[in-house]
Amino acid sequence: MPDSHVLFVIGGGGREHALIWHLAKAYPSASIYCAPGNPGIATLATCLPVPAADLAGLADAAASVNADLTIVGPEAPLVAGVVDVFEAHGLRILGPSAAAARIEGSKVFAKDLMRRHMIPTADHVAFDDPQSAMAYARNLRAPSVIKANGLTAGKGVILCGDAGEATRAVQAIMVDRVYGEAGRRVVIEERLEGDEVSVFALVDGEATCLLPVAQDHKRALDGDRGPNTGGMGAVAPYPLDVAMLDRVRRDVVERVASAMCAEGAPYRGVLFAGLMLTRDGPRVLEFNCRLGDPEAQVLMPLLSAGLPDAFETLRAGRTRPEEYAPVDGAAVGVVLASRGYPERPETGLEMDGLEDAADDALVFHSGTATRDGRLVTAGGRVLTVVGRGRDTGAARTAAYRAAAKITFDGVHFRRDIGARVPGVVTVARGERH
Ligand code: AMP
Ligand code: GLY
Repeated sequence: MPDSHVLFVIGGGGREHALIWHLAKAYPSASIYCAPGNPGIATLATCLPVPAADLAGLADAAASVNADLTIVGPEAPLVAGVVDVFEAHGLRILGPSAAAARIEGSKVFAKDLMRRHMIPTADHVAFDDPQSAMAYARNLRAPSVIKANGLTAGKGVILCGDAGEATRAVQAIMVDRVYGEAGRRVVIEERLEGDEVSVFALVDGEATCLLPVAQDHKRALDGDRGPNTGGMGAVAPYPLDVAMLDRVRRDVVERVASAMCAEGAPYRGVLFAGLMLTRDGPRVLEFNCRLGDPEAQVLMPLLSAGLPDAFETLRAGRTRPEEYAPVDGAAVGVVLASRGYPERPETGLEMDGLEDAADDALVFHSGTATRDGRLVTAGGRVLTVVGRGRDTGAARTAAYRAAAKITFDGVHFRRDIGARVPGVVTVARGERH
């Protein structure tokens, strides 16, 4: 991609801040715009006040700044069809169409796709009516997971140890509607055991290329306790042995890319597979149609080439990169959250220490705003502080040194991000799916 291009990014969180930081570094002469952006993004890009839900407004904005390429951060505009809208206006955009984004937008679509194409995943049953779901849950003899179908920002999932917990979860999701309309339909799954990782692939039709493997930390508290959140921190790379990585590539990423082509909805963009690395090999927990947050904050600093260029290479079918070679080293990202997150986060609190923290680490803004010229908190996840180092240990030290310098009333973060990265994760049993 020529350096002087105009790039337009949709979104306004830590993921988009990291993406824009990466683009600014890879293309130093590019003009970068972002809608709606945030105060951190505004230091690197021109922010335009268009909400990510206003698809026609976004297309107008991209056209008015003569964007050469638009990159979409969050899932909601993708699921709503922003790529289709842009393409109908003749605008170049990187991301899956609405038909392809169903892989995230509908858990039932994703599970049926996996079943049809033999992509390894947990066994599941879907229910539309609470009575049948309740009857099924009452008879469960093994640990299960109850999920609301539809978008719930990663929160509509309840892990259950026995039938009693499962029936209470069905009641909460389908009857009490604790996740709103997303709970009209539930998916009940077998509960898998193993290490959980986030795998990202660049996909263009049948062509795929893996990014370094990352791990998110979804629970609110140290030791994976407390409620599920959007993600409290991430680490990359996460070491998989050759056999496990090979399974991930062949049985999951390549198979799903082919499956989407076969279904008439070829996938184009970043595909995110949430995987459980079980003793039998990888099993898919979920697919997302975008980069992860906070995974993007640790992946972007590791990339050795600009993302748009990597997509061009993939699309042109030139060198088919087996893997998008990372630079040396590791990154650890710690999310600084507000008091009350994830249930009732406090907002509007003044923050200090960001400049000092930037001596040791990258500071990406997730939920911040400015008020009378001062930076204040504006969301549950406020900042992601990313340390880099030659290994995970050095990256953790840098991240935590920086995190300790940032203060706002009620700030809290996990102390164990990246603390349990193993030597390598291997497949224990040999059978193939
Ligand atoms: P999801 O939004 O479907 O990725 O689920 C959120 C979290 O619930 C995942 O990150 C896992 O930690 C957990 N989870 C989901 N499905 C399962 C499963 N079948 N077995 C064990 N844990 C699961
Ligand atoms: N970190 C998980 C997600 O972005 O969905």
